[in-house]
Formats: sequence, C-alpha cells, structure tokens
Amino acid sequence: MKVIVTGGTGYIGSHTIVDLLENDFEVVCIDNLARSTKYPIGAIEQITEKKFKFYQIDLCNKQETFDVLEQHKDAVGIIHFAAFKTVPESVANPILYYNNNLISLNNILEGIQKFGIPNFVFSSSCSVYGNAKALPVTEETPFQEAESAYAHTKQIGEQIIQHYSKVNTTKSILLRYFNPVGAHPSGILGEMLLNRPDNLVPYITQTAIGKLEQLTVFGGDYDTPDGSCVRDYIHVCDIAHAHTLALKYLIENQNHSNCEIFNLGTGNGVSVLEAIHAFEKTTGQKLNYKVGARRAGDVEKIYANNEKASKALKWHCQYNIEDAMLSAWKWENKMKELALL
Ligand SMILES: NC(=O)c1ccc[n+]([C@@H]2O[C@H](COP(=O)([O-])OP(=O)(O)OC[C@H]3O[C@@H](n4cnc5c(N)ncnc54)[C@H](O)[C@@H]3O)[C@@H](O)[C@H]2O)c1
Repeated sequence: MKVIVTGGTGYIGSHTIVDLLENDFEVVCIDNLARSTKYPIGAIEQITEKKFKFYQIDLCNKQETFDVLEQHKDAVGIIHFAAFKTVPESVANPILYYNNNLISLNNILEGIQKFGIPNFVFSSSCSVYGNAKALPVTEETPFQEAESAYAHTKQIGEQIIQHYSKVNTTKSILLRYFNPVGAHPSGILGEMLLNRPDNLVPYITQTAIGKLEQLTVFGGDYDTPDGSCVRDYIHVCDIAHAHTLALKYLIENQNHSNCEIFNLGTGNGVSVLEAIHAFEKTTGQKLNYKVGARRAGDVEKIYANNEKASKALKWHCQYNIEDAMLSAWKWENKMKELALL
C-alpha cells in the first residue's frame, strides 16, 4: 500500500518513513527542503534497505502539488508533516507561518478531494491547548488562546480539517504531538537543524559537544516544582510508529467518525531542569547552563493524557527520557563525525 508523506525529509517525517517502510508500506515523499536536506533519504534507505520516491516541491504551489498527487492517486493515504515549526520565528514573522502552514494544508486537502485519496493524517501539536487550565490535557480540553502564530496555525489547521470533514468522505486523524525528542537508535538519523536550535534537546546536545557555549533555560520563576517549564518529552520513534498505527486504523475502518483526534505524549511531565539532569546522568557529560529570562510564546506546563491513543490505536511508548537523551547524544556525535551541517 502506497502512502504519501509530506515534510518527509524533516525530523519526524524521516523517522516515520522508516517505520512505514519497516511495516511494508510503499512511500512517496514530498519536501521542498526549506528546513531540511537530502541527507535523511540515504540514511532511511540504509536503515531499511528499501527505496522510496522523492519529489522536491513546495506544497504552496498548487499545480506542482496536484501534479504529484495525480501521479500517486492510488495512494491509501497522506501523512502531512510539512510546516514551519519554530515558535520564536513565528512570533517574529507571523505572516510567513500563516502563509506556509495554511496554504500548503489547503492545497493538500483540495488535492485529496480532487484525486479521491481516502485517508489523511495531520501533524498537530499540544500547542493548540495554550496554557491549559487543567492537567493532564485530554483531547476534550478546550483550546486556550494560542501563545504564538505557530500554535495558531495548528488551531486553524485543525478547524479547517474539521470543516472539510463535514462535507467530504475522507477519513482524517489529527495527531497532537507533545515534545518529540531523541533520534533513531542506529545513530544515523536524527534532527538536523539548519539554524540555531529552539528546542531543548538539540540545544543540550549542541552545548555538550561545544557548538554552543552555554545553554539558557528560559525562565526559572514559573509556577512549577523547580521554576522551569514542564513538558511531555516523547521519543521520536514512538511518535513515528503512532502514524503507522493511525493509518492502519483508518484503512481498517476502525474509526468512529471521519475526523478523530489523538494526543501523542507519554503522560509524564518533566521539567527543563529535570531533562538537563537526565542528559547529564545518562551521558556522563556536564552541561554548562544558566537560568535566564522567560521566552515569548512558551506555555508554563503541559503534559498529555494519552489513554485514547493507547486504547484505540493500541499505541504504547517503547522509550523513556533516558533512551531519548542517549540517542540524541549518539546522533550529535554522528553529525560531528560526518561533518554534517
Ligand atoms: N518537532 C516538534 O517539536 C513538533 C511538535 C509538535 C508538532 N510538530 C509538527 O510536526 C510536523 C513535523 O515537524 P518536524 O519536527 O519534523 O519539523 P521539520 O522542520 O524537521 O520538518 C518539516 C519539513 O517540512 C518541510 N516543509 C515545510 N514547508 C513546506 C512546504 N511548503 N512544502 C514542502 N515542504 C515543506 C521542511 O522542509 C521540513 O523538511 C510539523 O507540522 C510540526 O509543526 C512538531
């Protein structure tokens, strides 16, 4: 069965392609390489010993998007990862985010409708919850005001798909990821950042390896046990496998409505300082860090209730925060060895 993966050379997309190929799906990957390189293509093929088609196109270009979808209209589904995802960048340049993330989504949905592709999986984010009033958040927890333009594009994206689903037969799943971290256990695939990191784990590993001088913890005065923000860090390979399960769930018609939502988190809240200490403990590396001012766009604390995904998709996390830190460190060292970036 063929599946189209957009944003497939990115961090989560590339790990998901590995999981799909290992589960005997045929993969067609689309990415404009705006935020990635071609490196993951070779790494995926090395890990899986399988090949897949790659198209370098911008999904904001409707005609080019339609041309690829038409060639692969026999696909059983599309997994749509492609988007810009950097919270501070979206705060500084909101129009870039509304244009890229929403025009690409609209083109994909129009293409799905035009070419009759039956199943759709969308990358959403826990940022849709904003500063949730009660924790852990369930899929029914109401949205609060989006803390950034990025989060707002995910709220709007979900609403577009929900309206689309009322008048189309496409079956959709919206996956709300918490904080994906770590790398493939092979050590040859991981997150490749073209710019300075904004997420904690690459920030940690780049500091430990000496690419960055010092790590700043954004805010030490939040209403949390140690004053730093609390997140639900989930291994990228666990997130990746959830996509394979979500697609199978739709293909096997196990869905209860034609647009369902699932949280993808471990269910455990871990503070930024706890994550730093987990890295230090598992790798034996001492980290040079300081606690600084809060950063615009960050929510104070969030973690998931993941019972719905666990029951319906039969999805269970295989990795913990220590596994994630070790694999991320292995990957950072591999990038240095290969002189990637
Ligand atoms: N990584 C996270 O922390 C996180 C958390 C929650 C949700 N998400 C969402 O998951 C998805 C994947 O995230 P990621 O971490 O893999 O990001 P990423 O930046 O590594 O990958 C996204 C990929 O999409 C591509 N892309 C962007 N705009 C495109 C366009 N117009 N046309 C074609 N390709 C385009 C980029 O080149 C990149 O390769 C995104 O939608 C993101 O918002 C990520």
